[in-house]
Amino acid sequence: QSKETKWMMDAHLLLQKFYHHLLLNTKEGQEAYDYLSGREFTDDMMKKFGIGYALNSWDFALKFLTKRGYSQKLLEKAGLLIEKEHTAEYFDRFRDRIMFPIHDHKGNVIAFSGRVLGKGEPKYLNSPETALFNKSKILYNFHQARPHIRKQEQVILFEGFADVIAADRAGLHHAIATMGTSLTEDQARIIRRHVESVIICYDGDNAGIEAAYRAAKILIEQDCYVRVALMPDKLDPDDYIRKKGPESFKQDVIGASLTFMAFKLQYLRRGRNLKDEGEKIRYIEDVLKEISLLTKAVERDHYLRQLADEFSISLDALKQQQFQVYKSLN
Ligand code: CTP
Ligand code: MN
Ligand code: MN
Ligand code: MN
Ligand code: MN
Repeated sequence: QSKETKWMMDAHLLLQKFYHHLLLNTKEGQEAYDYLSGREFTDDMMKKFGIGYALNSWDFALKFLTKRGYSQKLLEKAGLLIEKEHTAEYFDRFRDRIMFPIHDHKGNVIAFSGRVLGKGEPKYLNSPETALFNKSKILYNFHQARPHIRKQEQVILFEGFADVIAADRAGLHHAIATMGTSLTEDQARIIRRHVESVIICYDGDNAGIEAAYRAAKILIEQDCYVRVALMPDKLDPDDYIRKKGPESFKQDVIGASLTFMAFKLQYLRRGRNLKDEGEKIRYIEDVLKEISLLTKAVERDHYLRQLADEFSISLDALKQQQFQVYKSLN
């Protein structure tokens, strides 16, 4: 670890502590605090996750950190300041935002993501890629979740900050997030080094379902055992927990998570009207293809029976057709 990266981490930590203080103890932070309280973030959660508030100022972080000996150039490299196009004049990247510190897996603050209070674009403004922050290798909250992941022998993977924090409040401490972007192979490897069993719990909108499907495939390639928890009514996990409570989330969402195969069957149904004969047949064909890819005969049998039951087709007919599909795939 070079001297420069050490400085950058120290600058992040100082700033994180000050943002946190502004949120919890000052008049300037009151609106942000009220916004978070309105979303049921408790003081304990704000503390545990080190959440803060960046003042509505162009040079607050600049002054705060240069006074403490950090050069503007270094702070720009760390992603905290932005240079006005080649003028050697700098200003704060984060202004009037709720600040979520992002930690590396050892617990050092290495980046921030700042949320607007209420509506506005971008909803989250993130630190750029820096010497400290390689987004594709970082999982949000991994440093705090790690011992719980080990103990539970399981991890729950979310999309966003608020989801992890709401889950933690609900008593699910083995929660991490990909921070919106699709799960990378590097992240999947990091997960697999610590645990085999992963529950993916992404948002219930289309983007979330597609992303869950992709993430599942990447995790399975890394030899994880994957289940997918589906969110009803396009809610996200944070919305769900606030609306229906932690117990329902644990039982009806996490407890009802699906095997990847069962998830795929749901996934293939999307946007299809199975009352339409043609669409029904195409759905059945797609399912048969998935069944053909299963390696265990017992599993193939199970899903064939399920399909036969649901559509009142004879098991023999399905088996014959599945054999055709199998041959065409090999
Ligand atoms: N994200 C991001 N930049 C954006 C939007 C989203 O980095 N402009 C990341 C954030 O980590 C966010 C995650 O993607 O937490 C999931 O996005 P989304 O579902 O849109 O946000 P929520 O986490 O639901 O945010 P909130 O509940 O605060 O609206
Ligand atoms: Mn607890
Ligand atoms: Mn989303
Ligand atoms: Mn969301
Ligand atoms: Mn949300």
